[in-house]
Amino acid sequence: MDSFLIKGGVPLHGEVTISGSKNAALPIMAATLLTDEPCVIRRVPDLSDTRFMVKILESLGATARFADGTLTIRAKKIRGYADYELVRKMRGSICIAGPLLARLKQARVSLPGGCIIGARPINLHLKGFAALGAKIEIAGGYVEASAKRLIGASVFLGGRAGPTVLGTANVMMAATLGEGVTIIESAACEPEVVDLANFLNAMGARITGAGSPTITITGVAKLHGAEHEVIADRIEAATFLIAAGATNGEVTLKGARPEHLRAVIDKLNEAGVAVERRGANLVGRRKGKLKSADITTLPYAGFPTDVQAQMMSLLTLAPGISIITERIFEARFMHVSELARLGADIEIEGPSAIVKGGRPLSGAPVMASDLRASAALVIAGLAAKGATQVNRIYHLDRGYERMDLKLQKLGARIERIEEK
Ligand code: EPZ
Repeated sequence: MDSFLIKGGVPLHGEVTISGSKNAALPIMAATLLTDEPCVIRRVPDLSDTRFMVKILESLGATARFADGTLTIRAKKIRGYADYELVRKMRGSICIAGPLLARLKQARVSLPGGCIIGARPINLHLKGFAALGAKIEIAGGYVEASAKRLIGASVFLGGRAGPTVLGTANVMMAATLGEGVTIIESAACEPEVVDLANFLNAMGARITGAGSPTITITGVAKLHGAEHEVIADRIEAATFLIAAGATNGEVTLKGARPEHLRAVIDKLNEAGVAVERRGANLVGRRKGKLKSADITTLPYAGFPTDVQAQMMSLLTLAPGISIITERIFEARFMHVSELARLGADIEIEGPSAIVKGGRPLSGAPVMASDLRASAALVIAGLAAKGATQVNRIYHLDRGYERMDLKLQKLGARIERIEEK
């Protein structure tokens, strides 16, 4: 398994181009199953997750060509059941269920199961499918949804932690080819949901209200092929802004969408990291001393859970007490013990982590446990004195397009140690 070797203490300087969003690309790629006509998706990030999704779509019968960030795909003739192992391995692939149910009136996929950050059930996805008239069966590790017809209905999709992002995406896609009107209440408002709705409307769907808690889908008989450019990855953008602040550098982001980053920019300002627009670009830099700040993760437009770990790395450097409360996933503090290896002082109290910041970090070997935790360890390694080895970076490669090369371009002393 590859690892990163980082020699810290170098302020990052220069420009970085933000890639397309992984979390927008995955459901958009699944949506191409809704039509038998060709689709062209641009700015698809080259990640292990997107390559995995291509494999899943091909296993269903689609033909795909993925080159230079452009995916040309045609799901001419497909089947309604996906390879058990393929879907089981990547949670995000659950969003093929909605399109298969809509187009074939039958979808059989392996249950995604939990992951290291939480139980992550799909009860709300299934609640939505059932509201449209689908019969749901769970057996042998598979979930099967089938229906003679899908009839538009109203469904409330709020759960334990509020709305569900992929649940909203799945039910929205299932309803596009339903009969009549579907109304999703307590829908997720994430920019990735809006980007998906824009793609579906480009395919001929009739969706209004995406980006608000109430989405209305008027079913149509058929969808056609379409072209679309995926939005910028707001989580990658936030990660580079935080890295600029943590290393006391100045980084210019090209192609980021500031309007998707308001909660992050607000908290960075509070913590002593200035983020400003310069023309079409966004610039992040430290302004004076870092300051402690309290963070609570919330559904969009609140502070994103996918930036919690990276923000914790920054706040370990800020003198004072910062309280970070995770409200979305019940076990998303795997990075805490690894940050402690670098000298951070963090205590976990229920859903909160109490960060006593200001003590300088020093390099050490650490282990990545999940995608965003690995980004947090890279940021801490860049800020730490001495050398840090971040192991198991396959987690990072799932969601960051060649982060090592992008950081090298900003002056970081980082190298990928490839497993022999
Ligand atoms: C999406 O996951 C993202 N993944 C996650 O990003 C992100 O953390 C999450 O949304 C929240 O913003 C992709 O888009 C591929 P949810 P998703 O359903 O849709 C509970 C990353 O780092 N819930 O919005 O799977 C659930 O357990 C990843 O890029 C139910 O209870 O998340 C969680 O506590 C990690 N029942 C909460 O809702 C359900 O049926 C939010 O989950 C569905 C969800």
